[in-house]
Amino acid sequence: MSSEEIFEPKIVAFVCNWCTYAGADLTGTSRLKYATNVKIVRFPCTGRIDFLLLLKSFAQGADGIIVSGCHPNDCHYTSGNFHARRRWIAFRSILDMMGVDVRRVQYSWVSAAEGSKWADLVNNTVADIRALGPYTDYQKVADYLEKEVQDGEA
Ligand code: FES
Repeated sequence: MSSEEIFEPKIVAFVCNWCTYAGADLTGTSRLKYATNVKIVRFPCTGRIDFLLLLKSFAQGADGIIVSGCHPNDCHYTSGNFHARRRWIAFRSILDMMGVDVRRVQYSWVSAAEGSKWADLVNNTVADIRALGPYTDYQKVADYLEKEVQDGEA
């Protein structure tokens, strides 16, 4: 990449179907402009997101990740977003242990009515990851995941 080229980070967004996915859809139907760097993976609820998938995304070339679902007390499965938040807190220490800058993962709440918040979240995440630069330690994450699989089989 020449110094004149702008780094375009690859962002994966894990979102719940009922709030954030609908909010992202509203962003589109409202014709709000936002960065196209994001690939959305839809889950029924953030409580169903296995955080190892986030590591797999890094191992496969993601530079940054967004996790977003319903606001507290708005989860369609009552408390899935609270479970996700608890796992997120534990996951941060795994990122720390692996030397992954926690700023590479943005955790947020976006409702079905917050199309502009989704656009801001994506645009701000792209700007933040652009400032951090590409994620290059993916082999370390891949090795960690492989060890997890081997330990699970033992
Ligand atoms: Fe959206 Fe649970 S349904 S976080």
